[in-house]
Amino acid sequence: MTHVAIIMDGNGRWANALGQPREFGHRHGAESVRRVVEAAPDHRIDTLTLYAFSSDNWGRPAPEVSVLMRLLRRYLRSESAELREKGVRLRVVGRRDRLTPALVRAIERAEAQTEGGRRLLLRLAVDYSSRDLLVEAVRRAAESNRLERHDIANLLGQAMNGGGPAPDVDLLIRTGGEQRLSDFLLWECAYAELYFTDVMWPDFGGEHLAEALAEYRARDRRFGKVAAAS
Ligand code: FPP
Repeated sequence: MTHVAIIMDGNGRWANALGQPREFGHRHGAESVRRVVEAAPDHRIDTLTLYAFSSDNWGRPAPEVSVLMRLLRRYLRSESAELREKGVRLRVVGRRDRLTPALVRAIERAEAQTEGGRRLLLRLAVDYSSRDLLVEAVRRAAESNRLERHDIANLLGQAMNGGGPAPDVDLLIRTGGEQRLSDFLLWECAYAELYFTDVMWPDFGGEHLAEALAEYRARDRRFGKVAAAS
């Protein structure tokens, strides 16, 4: 089973290329989220983590932040029933104390409604900063004098809202032509395969996910060791 994480980049540039405001790109980006979630279980993906809003995204113009927050709320409200039907369990990872009460309620409802999903764990990273979470996990580790690798992984999971130990990422995809991690899942990506594509997020669909998975499956993952037959 496979954990895929995606940095969904390129919404703004995609929209601007069409002479549209950045918000137009975000709205279409939400459609790509639907397509990818739908396609994921067919590729034996059991955990999908999507970077929906980084803690640094608070620095964007207020109207754009509002649009992103509204899209998230709308997604949670309109998709929960279908996610549940499809066996998808949704968890939102990241800070919640800076989100509006309405969004926090929508998150809690969606999480409760999809609690029983076993086909796919969909993790949406919202107000997420990997560095901040690592600092928090290390602080808790020091307080309890639990400083082994598995302790940090467990405490990271807890710091992220109690979703269990932080699961290692197998494949990290970033769309939009940029090649960086941008404070996303830094601990969990220690041995992730990285896949960068120029496709802008609003254009990304099931066929692109299939291409990324095919390349990932053709790679030789050695985890620092030597190939099995050599
Ligand atoms: C990056 O594009 C994208 C984001 C910062 C937000 C991702 C949000 C969505 C896909 C829509 C809402 C999400 C859900 C889960 C419903 P960018 O704005 O940085 O694009 P640019 O690099 O071209 O400027």
